[in-house]
Amino acid sequence: MLPLFPSKAFLAPMAGISDPALRLLCRELGAGLVVTELTSIHAIVAKEEQLKKLQKSITDFIAFSEQERPVSIQLFGSDLSLLAKAAKIVEPYFDLIDYNMGCPAPHITCQMAGAALLQNPELTEKIFSTLVKAVKKPVTLKMRAGVDKPTCFQQTAQIAEQCGIQMITLHARTLKQGYSGHADWSLIKELKSLVKIPVVGNGDIQTPEDAKRMMDETGCDYVMIGRAACQNPFLFQQINEYLAKGTYQPITLEQKLSAFFRYLEYAQQYPLKFANIRLQAMNFTKGSPGSKELRLRIGQTRTIEELKNVLDVLNREIVA
Ligand SMILES: Cc1cc2nc3c(=O)[nH]c(=O)nc-3n(C[C@H](O)[C@H](O)[C@H](O)COP(=O)(O)O)c2cc1C
Repeated sequence: MLPLFPSKAFLAPMAGISDPALRLLCRELGAGLVVTELTSIHAIVAKEEQLKKLQKSITDFIAFSEQERPVSIQLFGSDLSLLAKAAKIVEPYFDLIDYNMGCPAPHITCQMAGAALLQNPELTEKIFSTLVKAVKKPVTLKMRAGVDKPTCFQQTAQIAEQCGIQMITLHARTLKQGYSGHADWSLIKELKSLVKIPVVGNGDIQTPEDAKRMMDETGCDYVMIGRAACQNPFLFQQINEYLAKGTYQPITLEQKLSAFFRYLEYAQQYPLKFANIRLQAMNFTKGSPGSKELRLRIGQTRTIEELKNVLDVLNREIVA
C-alpha cells in the first residue's frame, strides 16, 4: 500500500540535485514525497558486495535520513536478475521503489534503460513483474510520453497497472524533446483516463497557480516539481497554502538565503561533491538582484566556507 503523503506536491528525482540535503529541506518546506536521483542497479549490487566486506550497509552509498520519510529510491537498469537483487537490497530502507523510464541521456538509453524502454513492451512487462514480485514495498513508475511521439505511455501504463505498479508519474514530454518545448499536460489527462492507480503529473510547474491548474485540467492526483523547486524550495509550502486557501505568502530573498544556509548545514553531513553544492547555490540565487555578478563570485568558490562568505555578503546587502 502507498504511504499517506502529507502533501500533494512531490520533489522530482534529479541527478546531482535531489541530494539528501535538498530532499530534507524540501520535506521540511512541505513536499509530500521526495525521490533520490536515478541509481544504477549494477552499482547497487556491486557496492553492496564491497560494503558487506567492510561491515557497512548500502546506506553508505545511497545516503538519506529518517526525517525525509516518505522517501522513494529511483532505480534504472534492465538486467532482470540484478534488478530483483538491487530492489531487495534497498527495500529495507526506502518507503517506495520507483522505476525510471524517463531518462533521455544516451549513456542510459544505450543500455536499453530509461526512456528507451518505452519502445520495448515485452521487456517492460518482465521488468515490472520482476520488481513487484521481488519486494513488498510499493513499486511506482516514472516515465516520459514516448520516444519521437507521445504514443508509448498508454500501453506502458496499462502494462504497469496489470503488473501491480501502484502509482505512475508522467513527465509529459517525449525522449526526443529532452527538456525543450512544453510539457503537454493533455497527456496527463489521457493517462488519468486509462488507469485506476494514482497519477502524478510532471512538467513545467513553476508556481502554485501552475500546480493547481495542472490538477484541475488533468485530474491528476499529485504533482511533481523539479527545476522550479531548486530555485525556490518554498514552492511546496506555497502550493500547500494555495490548494488549501486560494492564496499564499510571497517569499523574500532573505528567506531563501536563510533556507540555503540550512541546506549547507545539512549538506556538510553527507559526502556531496562541492561542484554540486555550488550548482545548488547558483539555482537558489537565480533571479536575485545583481545575480550575474553574484553567479560569477559563486562560480569562483572552492569550498563551503568560501561559498558561505559570498552569500553572507549578499545577505548583509539585503538586510542593510
Ligand atoms: C538536472 C536534472 C536531472 C534529472 N534527473 C532525473 C533523474 O535522476 N530521474 C528522473 O526520473 N528524472 C530526472 N530528471 C527529470 C525531472 O525529474 C523532471 O521530470 C523534469 O525536470 C520535468 O519537471 P520540471 O519541469 O518540474 O523540472 C532530471 C531533470 C533535471 C533538470
